[in-house]
This record gives sequence, structure tokens and C-alpha cells, in this order.
Amino acid sequence: MKRIAIITGATGGIGREFVRQVSGYELDEIWAIGRNEVKLKELSDTYGEKIVLVTADLSEISGIEKVERMLAEQKPEVRFLINNAGVAKMAACQTFSQEEMIRTIDVNCKAPVLLCNLCIPYMKQGSNILNIASASAFQPNPYINLYAASKAFERNYSRALNVELEGTGITVTAVCPGWVDTELLPKELNGKRVKYPGIVTVEKVVRTALKDAEKKRDMSVCSLFVKCQHMNVKFMPQRLVMKIWTGAIKKYIRE
Ligand SMILES: NC(=O)c1ccc[n+]([C@@H]2O[C@H](COP(=O)([O-])OP(=O)(O)OC[C@H]3O[C@@H](n4cnc5c(N)ncnc54)[C@H](OP(=O)(O)O)[C@@H]3O)[C@@H](O)[C@H]2O)c1
Repeated sequence: MKRIAIITGATGGIGREFVRQVSGYELDEIWAIGRNEVKLKELSDTYGEKIVLVTADLSEISGIEKVERMLAEQKPEVRFLINNAGVAKMAACQTFSQEEMIRTIDVNCKAPVLLCNLCIPYMKQGSNILNIASASAFQPNPYINLYAASKAFERNYSRALNVELEGTGITVTAVCPGWVDTELLPKELNGKRVKYPGIVTVEKVVRTALKDAEKKRDMSVCSLFVKCQHMNVKFMPQRLVMKIWTGAIKKYIRE
């Protein structure tokens, strides 16, 4: 039986790095999922035949069903499921179209949940699910409100699923990075260059996430900056946390 890793959002900054680091593991195939066929092809050009390209829109049920069919036909052992695909927009809620709101919830919440349940029957003792949440899951965040709420969902879902899977040897890790240097982060908003305090590289996030998953941790927080932030928001009143956050972010927002 072949051993595989499934990585969603494989064409983006963090996903590409997961493909790079996981390609060093003893795996027969890496199923790299995304919509951008040019970027998917670059992965197989770089990492070779191990990469199985899966073009799928995970906001659509047909995208999820494509993965379901591949699993049913090939019956692999899923060593890693890395739910990394995500969408984000820093803006006032009132400016979102219905389509944008639905897509955010579908990609950030619906897809990882469905993929977890599809993959678990193909997992064994020692398998890992890594769900890429965010440090924005620690608190309510005005102006990335929907995104942060979707990541709080992902984090809570992952940690509780990890408890439900106790005894199976399968670990679920909610990965909660702060700002990471990828194309997800706009360089400029509202005519101002955006500052991202404590920003880290994809290499660091992914290396720490894989180490934490190996140690069977249910959460992965990769920098001291975010660890302190996590601690602070536990003890500070949420109203104050939101006030500080809003003070820092408001200048970038066009109402
Ligand atoms: N960058 C940060 O500061 C940061 C911080 C904390 C957490 N995160 C989380 O880390 C994850 C990866 O983010 P990133 O920074 O690497 O972003 P990115 O470079 O923008 O990559 C996003 C990935 O998601 C995929 N995706 C988006 N919509 C999709 C859809 N409908 N169907 C299938 N795939 C879709 C994209 O693939 P295609 O375009 O090919 O479909 C792309 O591969 C996200 O979940 C994000 O929330 C990022």
C-alpha cells in the first residue's frame, strides 16, 4: 500500500514549503492540491514524479469529491493530511460581497472538516493531520473579523478532534502562526505600506509545525512573539485586546 501526504493550498507560500519539506520524508506520493495549474506544474517540475497534481476548487463540493474518488480508487495510507488552503481579506465586513463571505467559510472551515473525515479511515497509528489555523484564532479581530473567526473555528475543531482520536495514534495539530511572509499579505493598503510585526519565514513555520506534529502536540506556535501574544490574550480583557488591535490596524482600512 502506498504512503501519501495530502497538501491543500500547495501552490501558495506555506503550502509550497510543506511540499518541499515533506518531500524529504519516506512517502510514495504527495497529492498537491490547488487551482492554479501553472504553479502546480512547477511543483512536479521541481520535486518530480512523487508529486500528484490535483486541480480542485475546495470551495466547491466537486473539489472535495475529486479527492474522495481518488482515495476510494487508490486506497492509500494517508501519512499526512495538511489542510493549508485559506483565503483572507483585511477589510470592513460591510465591504464583503456575499460570494466572498461564503468562499471564506467554505475554504477555511468546510473543506478542512470534510477532508479530515474523508482521510481518517485511511490513516494509521503515527499519521498526522495538520490544520493551518492562525494566531488570529486567539482573539476576535475587527477588520479581519471573518478570517479570524474562521481560524478560531479551525483551531477549536482541530484540538477537539485530537481528543476524539485519542487511542487511534492519529494526531491533529492546529498550526497557529502570526504574520508569515507570503503573497497572502498585501504590501500596501489604503495607500499605506503595511507593517507586519514579528513576521516570520515559511521555512520556520513549516519546520516547527512538522516537529510539533511529530511530538504529538495539538498546537504549534512557532515564534516567541506569538507565544507572548497567546499568553497576553489569555489574561487581558478581550475588549482591551480588540482595542489595541483596532488601533494598530484601522489606518489601513477604507470604510
Ligand atoms: N501568511 C500569513 O501571514 C498567515 C498567517 C497565519 C495563517 N496563515 C494561513 O496559512 C495558510 C496558507 O496561507 P499562505 O500565506 O501560504 O497564503 P497564499 O500564499 O495566498 O496561499 C493560499 C493557498 O490557498 C489555496 N486556495 C485558496 N482558495 C482556494 C480554493 N478555493 N480551492 C483550493 N485552494 C485554494 C491557493 O491555491 P490556488 O490559488 O492554486 O487555488 C494557495 O495555494 C492559510 O490557511 C492561511 O490562512 C497565513
